[in-house]
Amino acid sequence: MRTFDPDTLDLRTNYHLMISGIIPRPIALVTTVDKMGKVNLAPFSFYNGFGSNPPIVGFSPAFSGRTGKAKDTLLNIQETKEFTISMVSTPMMDKMVITSKEFERGIDEYVESGFSKRDSEVVRPPGVMESPYILECKLQDIIELGGKPGSGNLILGQIVRFHVSELAFDNEDRISPYKLDAIGRLGLSWYSRVKSGIFEVDQKQRLGFENLPGFILNSSVLTGSHLNKLASIIELPETDQEFMKSIYGQLENELHTLCRKYIDENEMTKAWQVVYVLREMHE
Ligand SMILES: Cc1cc2nc3c(=O)[nH]c(=O)nc-3n(C[C@H](O)[C@H](O)[C@H](O)COP(=O)(O)O)c2cc1C
Repeated sequence: MRTFDPDTLDLRTNYHLMISGIIPRPIALVTTVDKMGKVNLAPFSFYNGFGSNPPIVGFSPAFSGRTGKAKDTLLNIQETKEFTISMVSTPMMDKMVITSKEFERGIDEYVESGFSKRDSEVVRPPGVMESPYILECKLQDIIELGGKPGSGNLILGQIVRFHVSELAFDNEDRISPYKLDAIGRLGLSWYSRVKSGIFEVDQKQRLGFENLPGFILNSSVLTGSHLNKLASIIELPETDQEFMKSIYGQLENELHTLCRKYIDENEMTKAWQVVYVLREMHE
């Protein structure tokens, strides 16, 4: 065995030791609202159930390891004391990753990611329509776990409604793990598709959202899912002057729509040529 004493290690190493061995972790896609009613959505895998009478769940938004700042989810729950948890199934993977980006407080990650809202019955925050399993929860307690950068804040909530998709039940009316098709989080960039096995999301190779131009990030035509496809490119395509010439002269809004069409058709090289033309317009 290799043995490690957490007191002698830095925050990053302790974090990696935890996320690599406490696996697989379920992913709670947590919706909250602030006191003005603005919606926030983010994933958390330090998450589990802790009792069934009454039914209690817990998850832990940590203070940022870099800045020490509290996450929007924690601030909203402190303000409004309610949340929903939507389970992440395989078709939700790409959009879930978008919701984990550090958007400004008040930005609605449903809009950024392309997820749809499902109204709740008891609490104000909606659930994620695309999820087959949604919990409505009322805050029970917040336990601060250190108050330092990287420290957790254990949020315990009482489940006040369960919502389970009809499609998740098998012929004998059991909730089937095959039908739920959940994703679990492992260490680093590994995930597991519960019903089949491990896969890797290599974030490092991607271009990344941070390298998309501002006029694309702020486009009112492209959804988060379109942005994700643009940001997923590993190497920028070369400019194709002939093609670019063929679309010169179009209005900016028309170019955004054209870019969207090419992304929908998986014509990423063409979609990028449209971005290059837009870039020239913004120079
Ligand atoms: C699969 C996954 C699991 C995550 N689990 C956690 C977690 O348990 N605790 C945490 O603080 N951040 C976790 N994160 C990072 C947060 O989702 C991220 O910091 C997000 O921007 C927080 O959003 P908010 O500020 O809107 O609350 C996770 C990210 C992903 C992709």
